[in-house]
Amino acid sequence: MSQNQYVLQTENLHKDINMGKVVVHALRGVTFSVERGEFLGIIGPSGSGKSTLLGLIGGLDTPTSGTIHIDGQNVTNLDENALTRVRNEKIGFVFQFFNLVPTLTALENVALPIQFARKKRFNPHKRAKELLTLLGMGDRMHHRPNQLSGGQQQRVAIARALANEPPLLLADEPTGSLDSESSAVVMNALRDVQKRMGTTVIIVTHDLEVASQVNRIITLNDGQIIKDDARSTAQLAAVQAYKKRSTGELSAVGTN
Ligand SMILES: Nc1ncnc2c1ncn2[C@@H]1O[C@H](COP(=O)(O)OP(=O)(O)O)[C@@H](O)[C@H]1O
Ligand SMILES: [Mg+2]
Repeated sequence: MSQNQYVLQTENLHKDINMGKVVVHALRGVTFSVERGEFLGIIGPSGSGKSTLLGLIGGLDTPTSGTIHIDGQNVTNLDENALTRVRNEKIGFVFQFFNLVPTLTALENVALPIQFARKKRFNPHKRAKELLTLLGMGDRMHHRPNQLSGGQQQRVAIARALANEPPLLLADEPTGSLDSESSAVVMNALRDVQKRMGTTVIIVTHDLEVASQVNRIITLNDGQIIKDDARSTAQLAAVQAYKKRSTGELSAVGTN
């Protein structure tokens, strides 16, 4: 099979962080591969290296050693320009605190990365409208972030992350600052994206409710993978059925 069946491959990733006299070994040999269309959760206690790992995958930081392939391309030693291009075209990033531009409307926030793209694949405003509509935000396109709820802002952030149709969407604690109802809406949105657009989603979380909805869970502890647990569709269906019985249906996208 071609290497490109994998949207992400990491090989023996290490990240040392120099703190003056002490060196923190934030990652200590992390190797895993992610196939197209997977919905992967990364869990683990605070300080176990989850954000460090996601930052390396997303090109926000560089590893001390080891390699990273994104969509078949070795991105480990790219210069800043090339890395910026990979970030813009191959990766969408969703953060806990949304990080939207406060002075821009939802529509303008989503259009921004399309306007910055080197290859103009989409009409920025048309694409932004389509994505916001898909995420149930069609009637809030001209609102600015401070006129939106947390759950709504996060859906705008997801639309922005998908602007250039990246194969890989990374989300670091995307529900970490939301109440449970908004969390459910955002999780539904991410699941919908993964199903309908075929985007590979990697989500870092310490929320077990969130972790119960992914297809595979990697557990980090002290900078290493201690468990890599793929769930079968049957297992997942059983979990979903159980949750529906015990908590009632989760609300649909766009209802908060
Ligand atoms: N910028 C930094 N400076 C110093 N130490 C850091 C920095 N970023 C992360 N660390 C350390 O690296 C380890 C992993 O951190 P992190 O990846 O943020 O964990 P998690 O996201 O799982 O809570 C922790 O021990 C943390 O203190
Ligand atoms: Mg973290």
